[in-house]
Amino acid sequence: MGWKSLDDMDVRGKRVLVRVDINVPMEAGHITDTTRIDKILPTLNDILTRGGRPIILAHFGRPKGKVVPALSLKHVLPALQSKLHRSVELIATPEAAEHASDENVLLLENTRFHPGEETNDLAFAKQLATLGEIYCNDAFSAAHRAHASTEGVARLLPACAGRQMEAELRALEAALSDPTRPVGAVVGGAKVSTKIALLTNLVQRLDLLVIGGGMANTFLGAQGAQLGRSLQETDQHDMARQILQQAKQSGCRVLLPIDGAVATELVSGAAHELVPLTDHTLLAKDQMVLDAGPETIDHVTSALRGLKTLIWNGPLGAFETAPFDRATTACAREAAYLTRIGVLETCVAGGGDTIAALHHAEAAEHFTYLSTAGGAFLEWMEGKTLPGVAALEADIS
Ligand code: 3PG
Repeated sequence: MGWKSLDDMDVRGKRVLVRVDINVPMEAGHITDTTRIDKILPTLNDILTRGGRPIILAHFGRPKGKVVPALSLKHVLPALQSKLHRSVELIATPEAAEHASDENVLLLENTRFHPGEETNDLAFAKQLATLGEIYCNDAFSAAHRAHASTEGVARLLPACAGRQMEAELRALEAALSDPTRPVGAVVGGAKVSTKIALLTNLVQRLDLLVIGGGMANTFLGAQGAQLGRSLQETDQHDMARQILQQAKQSGCRVLLPIDGAVATELVSGAAHELVPLTDHTLLAKDQMVLDAGPETIDHVTSALRGLKTLIWNGPLGAFETAPFDRATTACAREAAYLTRIGVLETCVAGGGDTIAALHHAEAAEHFTYLSTAGGAFLEWMEGKTLPGVAALEADIS
């Protein structure tokens, strides 16, 4: 771990530039989930308690270098102030910091309103650097972006990871960089095409890979199964075969569904039947595989019992529509149980729909770490170096 944490920094009397991710979901002007705000409080409170002054940098949505009033951080400010129990002053531009009160925590308006943010413009990074004496990045979920506030400015000031970034990096390191073996992953979700790099990386590092969800249909189809109207990317059949071949070469056992819940419509309570899934399966034209079946659940849960480390990304079926949530729920509960009793030492999850699926299964609280990151978690699973993390490792102090 080549980065510093807040413990390595003397923040007393200093202005600490803190990059956070408060890109929270909103509906009709209201925040629907404040988790990302909750997660940055330890860092902000730590700096404040030790006599430092946080100057907060954050993006919100994708305004693409233009001022878009609907994407102003003023919409997030009330929730931030009430959770921090302090007033926070929103400043429109870095220059406006000069006129702000010396006492207040400052929040710079959406960094993506500035055209230099996403281009990682050095002049903009330098402007940001004038706002603080120390840079602290607490936004793992934005660390896959090489932007001025996540990467450029980190190279201009003494830099460290915030508490959430630190926890995230430690958890991910324990899961994939230096895991206790055997190590496995459950990867679900709709499409192989969006997860090629991830699957290719995982089969080279893992002992077990469970593939579920719509993407499993592509793997089964690649081996000859005819799956009717099931979600599938036929143009990815070659890729699926290549991934299976790579897994074989590197000694990674791959589990695909061996049976499935099949229906003709995806609606709650739809009539369905359980069918075996093999290379020779032939479904009717209007049938779809919407979930893994009970034999697959047995197969997966018993394989999970042999692991010490598990990474979970994506659901195993159409979990939003009961009864097609059964495989996701059963396997997630087993992972949670194995973690609770100490069989699984590390059990981390993240990316896209994953956390919602684990909450739906009432399994989330027992995982050792839940990442709030979407794209950054996936890029980390792909084995990529995240620019925001690399910049912390190149700390100049
Ligand atoms: C996210 O919501 O995953 C992060 O805030 C990053 O947002 P982005 O995909 O717009 O860079």
